[in-house]
Amino acid sequence: MKSLPYFCRGEVIRGFGRGSKELGIPTANFPDSVVDNLPADISTGIYYGWACVGNGDVYKMVMSIGWNPYYKNTKKSMETHIIHKFKEDFYGEMLSVVMVGYIRSEKSYPSLEDLIAAINSDIEQAKVMLDLPENSKLKEDNFFTSTSNSSPVSPSSAASTSQSIINGH
Ligand SMILES: Cc1cc2nc3c(=O)[nH]c(=O)nc-3n(C[C@H](O)[C@H](O)[C@H](O)COP(=O)(O)O)c2cc1C
Repeated sequence: MKSLPYFCRGEVIRGFGRGSKELGIPTANFPDSVVDNLPADISTGIYYGWACVGNGDVYKMVMSIGWNPYYKNTKKSMETHIIHKFKEDFYGEMLSVVMVGYIRSEKSYPSLEDLIAAINSDIEQAKVMLDLPENSKLKEDNFFTSTSNSSPVSPSSAASTSQSIINGH
């Protein structure tokens, strides 16, 4: 995928809330404007990368892009699980991410336990991949320290800002 690493940011919106309640793996959802701006070569599936909320610390993340076949969603979503325990929800805050690499395609699973096991295996894989020098350097990227990552810009302009930032990488 020639668009990787892919930088984008947008406000955290509410999903169905199943991530926390059913899976024990909370996810932060991006608005449609960010989902609709994805380059054509970024296919649906599971990715790993770096993420930061507002102007907070940068953490490892895993992201699912698509229709969640286990739940048969009708709307495409981009859901980020940040590999860190947060004390509170951060709906409405600005989430900045860089998608670094692809792990696998989305699948339906015979049980919720199987889906949870697959996501936990993605998390372990992401941790290892992000420690590689070529991937860990992206944690320090200026994208995460630029002033716009905490300002209340509209998601569409955030997405287009990140498009221009990508070109600089
Ligand atoms: C790393 C990761 C991998 C995922 N893999 C799948 C998958 O293979 N199939 C699927 O149906 N959903 C997958 N999901 C999506 C979860 O089902 C979704 O995050 C959950 O339903 C919560 O969604 P909600 O926040 O909209 O409630 C994945 C999510 C993450 C973070």
